[in-house]
Amino acid sequence: MKVIITENYEEMSAKAAELIIGIVKSNPNAVLGLATGSSPIGTYQNMAKDCRENGTSYKGVTSVNLDEYVGLTADHDQSYAYFMRTNLFDHIDIDLKNTNLPSGSASDLQAECDRYNALLAGYQQDVQVLGLGSNGHIGFNEPGTPFDSVTHLVDLTENTIKDNSRLFASIDEVPRQALSMGIKNIMNAKSILVVVSGKNKAKAVKGMVKGEITPDLPASVLQLHPFVTVICDKDAASEL
Ligand code: GLP
Repeated sequence: MKVIITENYEEMSAKAAELIIGIVKSNPNAVLGLATGSSPIGTYQNMAKDCRENGTSYKGVTSVNLDEYVGLTADHDQSYAYFMRTNLFDHIDIDLKNTNLPSGSASDLQAECDRYNALLAGYQQDVQVLGLGSNGHIGFNEPGTPFDSVTHLVDLTENTIKDNSRLFASIDEVPRQALSMGIKNIMNAKSILVVVSGKNKAKAVKGMVKGEITPDLPASVLQLHPFVTVICDKDAASEL
């Protein structure tokens, strides 16, 4: 696992974008595994700026996202589909037809998980971008999720509901469930890029980088992947 420690969020975002842009430039048909949350927003802004100013093109790129809340339609402003459009897809030249997320508003959630797993079988991510939950979750794979899991329905932990409630009008509006790629789907990527910032992630970063490899801290599984780059600011790295 390669760990790059940056001064702050801005430097983390610039370096992460550089890595993704390099992959897209060397392979215009790259498959990008994408994440939501506050961690990758700056990365996406840098990618948008580079697309606008330097013309890096995403016309041939396919994207697969990690997860989506159950019960929110794609036009709900807290859905991850909406997040991806407003934070990235609307600002680069990617064809929306080539962007993929699990649908949290599907009437048959198991059938939706099956559809997404079948789709992922055809698109190995050249890079999978990840944020990190303060409890060590990746995607919405909460502590205890088996390492061989594929896309599944998740009951979110109280910790995650509380962490994510800052984005909703009240904690009662935070969905209690989500669909998430499993750990096996994440580990299937050719390379993995984790972006982490802030002191509240320091303990999870330590567990991810040098803790015991255990489902109790899902991100610790990344120690088993041959090509992982962690880009974190010095607050997130403060316990390393
Ligand atoms: C959310 C998402 C994760 C994300 C994590 C951290 O619950 N499902 O994919 O990486 O929590 O979010 P943030 O970057 O906002 O701290």
